[in-house]
Amino acid sequence: MISYIGGKSRMAEWIDAFIPKDIETYVEPFSGMFWVFFKMDLEKYPNLKTVTYNDFNSLNANLFRCIKDYDRLYDECLKYPCQQVGIENTPKEYSEMFNIFQKEIFAKDFVTPTDANFDVAAKYLYVLTQVFSGSKPETAKYMDYRGKYRCKFLIIMDKMKKKEWREHFDKITFVENLDVCDVIQKYDSPTTYFYLDPPYYDTEHYYSKHEFGRSDHERLKNCLENVKGMFSLSYYVFDELNEWFPKDKYVWETKEFSKAAAASKGKVQTKGTELLIMNYGLENSGLADLHQSHATRLTEDYIDIILPLDEDLDDDGNYINDNDREIL
Ligand SMILES: C[S@@+](CC[C@H](N)C(=O)[O-])C[C@H]1O[C@@H](n2cnc3c(N)ncnc32)[C@H](O)[C@@H]1O
Repeated sequence: MISYIGGKSRMAEWIDAFIPKDIETYVEPFSGMFWVFFKMDLEKYPNLKTVTYNDFNSLNANLFRCIKDYDRLYDECLKYPCQQVGIENTPKEYSEMFNIFQKEIFAKDFVTPTDANFDVAAKYLYVLTQVFSGSKPETAKYMDYRGKYRCKFLIIMDKMKKKEWREHFDKITFVENLDVCDVIQKYDSPTTYFYLDPPYYDTEHYYSKHEFGRSDHERLKNCLENVKGMFSLSYYVFDELNEWFPKDKYVWETKEFSKAAAASKGKVQTKGTELLIMNYGLENSGLADLHQSHATRLTEDYIDIILPLDEDLDDDGNYINDNDREIL
């Protein structure tokens, strides 16, 4: 939906291709900004009845409770003016407003309301959309585009008006603010599909409002061992994975992607190998051909990405050419 630490906007189509198209229940226990769901072509999922958003970060959960009522959230966002393309001298009131909101919603004693709170959601969006893509919103500084780029706050407001985005917002059935294992337990069934995108190993301190350390990854593994439904699980490779999800028991698929967080002006972006671990056999799910075609494409298309000097925001508001970026 918007740029986010570990957001899967660029990998979502690749991941979506491995999801069986006849699923009825779709759950993302680590939803973040829910990129994989938003990139799903819903027409290709005719049986999909229930979609569950879950994130342990209460600000994320509140935002998704509110986004289901996009017209009301849009009106709430209208209260807050933001930087505009073509206006080079950004009024200082905007960064002051950003600082006030950031201080308020990330204060140690701030308690996110459990009912949809539109005031908090709009303030959270204001902060999330005016920090550098993928940086930590509670500490990142206000990014002044100096009139050069369309503000991502306006880009997300545009999405609230667009048909294809509204169709996805409407399709979200439940929004949860639970720990991953609790949400798995609550929604697991033979017809449930889980897509899991945990905080990557050794990156737990990047996320707001919680940590997800080694013992949590192991806890997740234990919980996935017993699920009745199907799952796919995103990771970068690390040693324990071979033992936790052995290749003779799980299907492993990999693909190289350029890492947005490693981008800087004029430099070749570093690549990372995305791994998707599945507990269902591709040959039994009608995906065998796809499996083959992915394997072929792996050798063909990924290794040529250099960040252009004049990169602009894309439709998702994810890429920026800026000199001030904070690297994770
Ligand atoms: C890698 S991000 C997911 C990004 C998401 N796939 C996207 O495209 O935006 C991981 C998410 O897991 C959440 N998280 C961390 N610990 C969690 C836990 N114990 N249970 C559920 N969610 C958790 C974080 O708040 C974060 O939003």
